[in-house]
Amino acid sequence: MCGIVGYVGNKNSVPILLDGLKKLEYRGYDSAGLAVPGNGMVEIVKEVGNLSHLEDAVSNNRINGNLGIGHTRWATHGRPTQANAHPHNDCKNKISVVHNGIIENFIELKEALIGRGHTFHSETDTEVIPHLIEECYDGDLFEAVQSAIKDLEGSFAIAVICQDNPDLIVVARKDSPLIIGIGDREYFVASDIPAVLNYTKDIFILQDCEMAKITSKGISITTFEGEEVNKDIFKVKWDDEAAEKGGYEDFMLKEIYEQPKAIRETLRDKFGKDGEIIFEEVPFGKEKACELNKVVIIACGTSYHAGLVGKQAIEQWAKVPVEVDISSEFRYSNPILNENDLVITITQSGETADTLAGVREAKNRGATVIGVTNVLGSTITREADGMIYTHAGPEIGVAATKTLVSQMAVLYVFALYLAKCRGTLSDEEIAAIACDIQKLPDQVEEILSANGKIKDVANKYANCADFLYLGRGIGLPVALEGALKLKEISYIHAEGYAAGEMKHGPIALLDEGVPVVAIATKSKVHEKILGNIQEVRARGADVIAVSTFGDKEIEKVADHTFYVTETMETLSAILAVIPLQLLAYYMAKARGCNVDQPRNLAKSVTVE
Ligand code: F6R
Repeated sequence: MCGIVGYVGNKNSVPILLDGLKKLEYRGYDSAGLAVPGNGMVEIVKEVGNLSHLEDAVSNNRINGNLGIGHTRWATHGRPTQANAHPHNDCKNKISVVHNGIIENFIELKEALIGRGHTFHSETDTEVIPHLIEECYDGDLFEAVQSAIKDLEGSFAIAVICQDNPDLIVVARKDSPLIIGIGDREYFVASDIPAVLNYTKDIFILQDCEMAKITSKGISITTFEGEEVNKDIFKVKWDDEAAEKGGYEDFMLKEIYEQPKAIRETLRDKFGKDGEIIFEEVPFGKEKACELNKVVIIACGTSYHAGLVGKQAIEQWAKVPVEVDISSEFRYSNPILNENDLVITITQSGETADTLAGVREAKNRGATVIGVTNVLGSTITREADGMIYTHAGPEIGVAATKTLVSQMAVLYVFALYLAKCRGTLSDEEIAAIACDIQKLPDQVEEILSANGKIKDVANKYANCADFLYLGRGIGLPVALEGALKLKEISYIHAEGYAAGEMKHGPIALLDEGVPVVAIATKSKVHEKILGNIQEVRARGADVIAVSTFGDKEIEKVADHTFYVTETMETLSAILAVIPLQLLAYYMAKARGCNVDQPRNLAKSVTVE
């Protein structure tokens, strides 16, 4: 949802800003732009399309300077045009602003500003900000920003520069992420940590309603009210390679292959030496677990699919009823919750606006909220009562892969933890399941190394217009996720459906041109899904199945089968999803799609 960067120091800011924007492109790639103080006014270069267009424009332009700001856009207000690209300026082209978020009251602000003689050049909500700052400016940029943001409603992370002071960036945040990288007499501003990792691992994470005055000589952080804030430096543990492609063609493929490591790292701090289950930041012990009335899981997209898997594990092992809701539905559903209910909210980015709104709704009703995220310091970590971290490392590809399997892994362990607290499984049963969970990284590795034919199958079906993905039980969330992956990166229409429901409608869609992907791993409903596959074949559809190594039955009914390692039924989701990620990936590649930056999408959805 837009990425912003800034640099102040003693180097040329332009290559540093471009490098930072490259790392943030996952947040949006409709247009990109830079602003650097120049000869008498702030110089701006901006281009429609992804960053390569801006890079070309910059190489034809002598723009440079020791300070600058930049932006990569995911369009919300106004189409992806050059005029709507950031940075945006005031009337005199002295003050320049980049913004991530949404100014909800921009229409009334804009009308008032026009009434007072300001001229606008874009359809964006952002453009009101430099004009408001212009009205408050009398030589002190920090004070002008501090006054101007009082008028803003909505969410913003902004970086502001002014021609009058080419050694000053003012930044402010409310409900949109912002970090500041600390170098040697230089500072880096960014929406997310990967943008600064090439330069520093020492970070200040700005919190809501905080702002900063940053020069090459130092930094001061205050609240919006001007109260000084003393911040600890956050030391990033990832190496810079974690945010690079490392020889892979795309981030998505690299991240698919990083899944064994992501699960291993995620599990590492959850199991103690004596098989103890550890959730350090979860305020939820035996007493609360025993009083638990129900669990509600809220999330969006792929994280929602992880939630569907978590439901099955929690219900089966901890014997607590679990509801799973899409955050954007939950927040307006007038949910029935009380202090004996637990809400688990899953968000890899920790910034999804609908999910955060759901968290606030749940807390208002007295429920305990536990967040699951991959991003330390993200907004969810401050809003939830307790946190569970996945340690998948930075996920740059827009389509979630390694964060999904890491989410599933922690939900499995948390289900086991609840079961232990509630005494619904014996110690032996818990130990056996824990042992199977810890085998998952190696099993994912095995599946990844036996994926040879997925590419051929993808090439064969890449021109089909529609796909149906069918699953039952633990296979249903896998089918939903397989269909979502295909849609989002290859733009092929795909529906995920409960296999038993197929005859109540979707079967009408089937003919020779609609391949069906069936999740048929070993389970108590295996025979049933084989029956559904027969129904599909009778309508002429080709069947691509995901099954367990050694399944002889499947070969008789499926046209192609991808095999996964045998594990207990509940855990099989984490394995069965792997071939479907690769199928979607190769299908998208065969169609020439940009898998890391699918159209209209962004990695972190900070708008409602
Ligand atoms: C799909 C995908 C999205 C996200 C969704 C929620 O590949 O990545 O569907 O899962 O936008 O994002 P988070 O988990 O950051 O809340």
